[in-house]
Amino acid sequence: MSDSIHKWRDASLLITSLITTSYTAYTVYEKYYKNSSKYNDILEDPPKIKLGVDKLIGNTPMVRINSLSKSTSCQIYAKLELNNPAGSAKDRVALNIILTAEKNGQLTRGNPDWVFEGTSGSTGISIAMICNALGYRSHISLPDDTSIEKLSLLESLGAVVNKVKPASIVDPDQYVNAAKKACEKLNNDTTTNSKGIFADQFENEANWKVHFNSTGPEIYKQMNGKIDAFIAGCGTGGTITGVAKYLKEVKGLNNCHVVLADPQGSGFFNRINYGVMYDSLEKEGTRRRHQVDTIIEGIGLNRITRNFNHGEENIDESIRVTDDQAIKMAKFLSVNDGLFVGSSTAINAVAAIKLAKKLPKDSRIVIIACDSGSRHLSKFWKEARAIDRNITLKDILGN
Ligand SMILES: Cc1ncc(COP(=O)(O)O)c(C=O)c1O
Repeated sequence: MSDSIHKWRDASLLITSLITTSYTAYTVYEKYYKNSSKYNDILEDPPKIKLGVDKLIGNTPMVRINSLSKSTSCQIYAKLELNNPAGSAKDRVALNIILTAEKNGQLTRGNPDWVFEGTSGSTGISIAMICNALGYRSHISLPDDTSIEKLSLLESLGAVVNKVKPASIVDPDQYVNAAKKACEKLNNDTTTNSKGIFADQFENEANWKVHFNSTGPEIYKQMNGKIDAFIAGCGTGGTITGVAKYLKEVKGLNNCHVVLADPQGSGFFNRINYGVMYDSLEKEGTRRRHQVDTIIEGIGLNRITRNFNHGEENIDESIRVTDDQAIKMAKFLSVNDGLFVGSSTAINAVAAIKLAKKLPKDSRIVIIACDSGSRHLSKFWKEARAIDRNITLKDILGN
């Protein structure tokens, strides 16, 4: 009798452990293997090992902005330039300026040579990081009220930071002029064998050329050649003119509508649409501290630079975006798409939804996402943080 009880007990133990093991195996299968194609998507084509940080520049991803594509009749995509190693499209420019100077014998790899630039923005950070990667030193002149994030980044990267009083471009101590002067001083110094270049991103044509040779072709390839509109802001003009020139003049996309998204206070809107470089915020007695009176950083200008001028004819239209619209859009993209972007990207996204109203259904719009929100925490994102997460596109456009 007790023998048969034991047999029953052993059998039920065996059955219980079989059930438990099968259940565990099934849940593991469900969790990790049944949907393995999902994980394989990530692993499909992992990038190859790169021989140095400079080799990580470019080949940035393209992402569909799902919220904007669902809410408009167009497909809206963002070229994620914020994925470059120093965090913005300016990595391409900084690298090409340095490589061009090396080709011209102005910088020598292995020598303790210097790159000088006057910038309150991303270009200084890109220059500082690439100089470190290639064995050069960097010297960045900037206005003394530049945001604390950018200052800390430059100092953390070991750049020599020269803070000057905010001034107009005609002032010899303005930060761009200060950078040029510091470079000339080094090159005239006969006691050192170091030499230097003034990067001069506004006038240096290595800027638009790198967008013509890399950003433009990447966008064309990622979109399989189907691009109905391209939208970028304009600081130096290198990105918009370089990409537009490639798409229109090399690939023959003459119907691709190229749009310059312009912040309040900048003169490009009137220049592109009416041929006059002027903004009413600039009129006598109304102008405040900054050259372009906006919270947006990196774009907007009231002078014509060489990088803008050489390719201006490929820009079809400019769309004006207010600071308020950009701040709300930044919050919208963050809470609806998980896209945490900087102020110039938010401007481009607002221009995209304005343009989408005028384009045929299913048109494909590409915008540049130049940098991340983390560069703008203390100023632009301080305002965007305060926006309600239920913000709608209607609230953004104010209609
Ligand atoms: C954040 C940001 N977005 C956009 C731009 C504009 O790019 P570009 O100088 O090519 O016109 C800049 C330029 O500095 C920038 O810093």
